[in-house]
Amino acid sequence: MDKIGMITGGGDSPGINAAIRAIVRKAKDEDVDVIGFKNGWAGLLEDDKKVLTRGDVSGILPVGGTLLGSSRTNPFSIQNGPEQAFENYKKNDLDAIIGIGGDDTLSVAHKLRDYDINAVGIPQTIDNDLAGTEYSIGFSSALTQVMRAVDQLHTTAYSHHRVMVLEVMGRDSGWIALFGGLAGGADSILVPEEPFKVKDVKGRIKERESAGKHFSIVVVSEGASPEGLDQQITRESGTDSFGHVKLGGIGHYLKDQLDAILDMPIRVTTLAYLQRGGEPTAFDRLMATRCGIYAVELCLEGEFDKMTAYDGSKVEPVSLEKVIANSPKSIDDDLLSMKDLFY
Ligand code: F6P
Repeated sequence: MDKIGMITGGGDSPGINAAIRAIVRKAKDEDVDVIGFKNGWAGLLEDDKKVLTRGDVSGILPVGGTLLGSSRTNPFSIQNGPEQAFENYKKNDLDAIIGIGGDDTLSVAHKLRDYDINAVGIPQTIDNDLAGTEYSIGFSSALTQVMRAVDQLHTTAYSHHRVMVLEVMGRDSGWIALFGGLAGGADSILVPEEPFKVKDVKGRIKERESAGKHFSIVVVSEGASPEGLDQQITRESGTDSFGHVKLGGIGHYLKDQLDAILDMPIRVTTLAYLQRGGEPTAFDRLMATRCGIYAVELCLEGEFDKMTAYDGSKVEPVSLEKVIANSPKSIDDDLLSMKDLFY
């Protein structure tokens, strides 16, 4: 093992730079060179790269985003994309490539195996919807932002006796909404795993009112939808190169529905990209550091087509095939039922 490549793909999140730093530090310690390809899989296709030294990764541990840049480029939706990826892999004398990203980025890493590319994946998505790992890099930072937003909405909500709807990200999984909402003490948490009834949301708000609480905070996941509406609310038409629509708008949809049946003022906040920006939490920094080191170890041991899975106490390998087959990971019923206790 002389040279490892690295890419960071999909939606960015705080903690990626910590993983990049750990990969470079561990690899250099083992006398292995590291090449960072820019802007996700696009960098490998275009041979747009940078040799990474220890100096390049100095000081990046607390910095959000990715110094390599990211994109949602899918080599498998581009003519001769996989062949081009292999050509540049060979041209750069790579022995392996580490992909840091969510299910889209890692599905490419898995499929490149058929093109003789040795890949290892590191789980990174604020959505926390990758199967086989309890956490993904970025999730802790995102839910901390949601918690802070709920805390801040509380003070203005109780002052004005309002209902505050907070729309958060997460695509088809409600992890960010559930954990962020629970951490902030939201009164209603609506997730894609469980279609909601608008009249139930109203019911909770009214129950709180009768208990003397003249305000409520509702956290709604962008992928949540009411019973009977057979589609998610989207912001734009069209899909990305992995076939995903751009979700968004459920917060305002819910407000309109509630306005018709509730005699209280309602305001909507969409947290959007504020959830993905800024500095990583201690948890994300540590997880990214451990996964980065472990990914290099997997490369050294020739354990390819694996992802570094993290369960809170240890990091272990899990087959990328299984990860992709079982993603997105939904919330278990036990965790989901917790939200109904608090309002
Ligand atoms: O997958 C991460 C994520 O932030 C989702 O929660 C969200 O739906 C999506 O990315 C937004 O994508 P984009 O950055 O392309 O707008």
